[in-house]
Amino acid sequence: MHQHAFKTLKASTLFSVVGRIALVTGGGRGVGEHIARALVENGARVYIASRSEATCKRTASNLTAIGPGTCHALPSVDVSTQEGCSALVSALESREEFLDILVNNSGVSWGAPFDSFPEKEWERVMALNVKSPFLMTRGCRKLLEVGAAKGVAEGDPTLPPLPSSI
Ligand SMILES: NC(=O)c1ccc[n+]([C@@H]2O[C@H](COP(=O)([O-])OP(=O)(O)OC[C@H]3O[C@@H](n4cnc5c(N)ncnc54)[C@H](OP(=O)(O)O)[C@@H]3O)[C@@H](O)[C@H]2O)c1
Repeated sequence: MHQHAFKTLKASTLFSVVGRIALVTGGGRGVGEHIARALVENGARVYIASRSEATCKRTASNLTAIGPGTCHALPSVDVSTQEGCSALVSALESREEFLDILVNNSGVSWGAPFDSFPEKEWERVMALNVKSPFLMTRGCRKLLEVGAAKGVAEGDPTLPPLPSSI
């Protein structure tokens, strides 16, 4: 039989996040909290961060109590700026040597009539929804590459780095 690089092709293993390390921006509430919870409930170690550290701390505590994975709040950060993204990556690097999953969830929307849509709000939406995923993915690239290489070395490259934007 043909030898393949995977230990097993069972669906339960292919899609397992047990022991995986994840970062969810805006994971303290809303959609991000649900994503963080799903990862924790499936055994991942999840980091969450947003401008409100208090919210993230409260959510991290609640999700860790649910388990079996764990959730950890990182210091307050505004990921719509390069400075904020760099600070978040540094905070993660001081705790982990690699990253398996990056979820660029932090986002904002603004409603206004087409003809009078304020330029300031357009720029705010673009900075968080478009620029931030680029900056975060670029900032986390090295951590993600280490995570991917680790999976390959262990013969279990089932979960590629996942820089996603929702
Ligand atoms: N694809 C779809 O159909 C769909 C549907 C709904 C939502 N979404 C997207 O899902 C994401 C979350 O939506 P939601 O409904 O959960 O929104 P939400 O309840 O308003 O939550 C937004 C999250 O982003 C964080 N955030 C906002 N500004 C931030 C900043 N400058 N830096 C860091 N974090 C920031 C917030 O935390 P802080 O306020 O503490 O910073 C909060 O955790 C958004 O990107 C939204 O566009 C997509």
